[in-house]
Amino acid sequence: MLERINETASYISKYFSKAPEIGIILGTGLGGLVREITVEKEIPYSELPHFPTSSVEGHAGKLIIGTLAGKPVVAMQGRIHYYEGWSMKDVTYPIRVMKFLGIKLLVLSNAAGGLNPDYKVGDIMMIRDHINLFPEHPLRGENDNSLGPRFPDMSEVYQETFRTLAQQIAKVNDIKLHEGVYAGVSGPTFETPAEYHWLRVIGGDAVGMSTVPEAIVAAHMRLNLLAFSIITDMGIVGQIEKVSHEEVQRAAMATEPILTKILKQIITAI
Ligand code: HPA
Repeated sequence: MLERINETASYISKYFSKAPEIGIILGTGLGGLVREITVEKEIPYSELPHFPTSSVEGHAGKLIIGTLAGKPVVAMQGRIHYYEGWSMKDVTYPIRVMKFLGIKLLVLSNAAGGLNPDYKVGDIMMIRDHINLFPEHPLRGENDNSLGPRFPDMSEVYQETFRTLAQQIAKVNDIKLHEGVYAGVSGPTFETPAEYHWLRVIGGDAVGMSTVPEAIVAAHMRLNLLAFSIITDMGIVGQIEKVSHEEVQRAAMATEPILTKILKQIITAI
């Protein structure tokens, strides 16, 4: 695996004038951030050696190299989802590559169903912790000790120092930023009312179909991580309405400018 990661990373690093400090996955809710990036180079995933390519609607597949708020960044436009059929190794491969490119902080975003009754559609939840409910673990199998330990610590996957900074920035901008637990499920089905209820009982504040595999691999490599969920629908028994991909996209788009604003200021501040 090491050799493959090195090959992908060295292919990409040809295009950098300066190593990236921050890696961003432009998931649902951060798509518009691409307009804030001063682009140096765009590389379609299909051009990158060993890189999986994304197909799901609303997720183009290219790597963007440039600067954001004056800082060198690498951004993935288009995420690789487990429900598309990729293996966990594929889903998390880009995280390994970004680490090898030299990033010090990874930023993830997603759309999620709200489980906490204090939340409403359009709110932003910063992930404080997660519950992994995926049926396959990204670190299962032989461990490469040069990448990370066999049994990684998971006590602070989303570091408090970065969360505190994000909260300070949200406060200055008068933006309500919830902090909660993200339950990661495989999808592609949305949840039944009984499943939403169960996810709340076990401690979830929001549920979605991404982020957890990437977060586990980031923790494996001791990469700092900040992650945000946009609440696009409510999974609270009594408030559950039919949900579709289109509605999720629409609700996420409406909140996108707010999340973009916070993130730009976070990047400026670090
Ligand atoms: N459940 C799972 N994933 C989601 C949801 C949901 O309600 N909304 C957006 N992504």
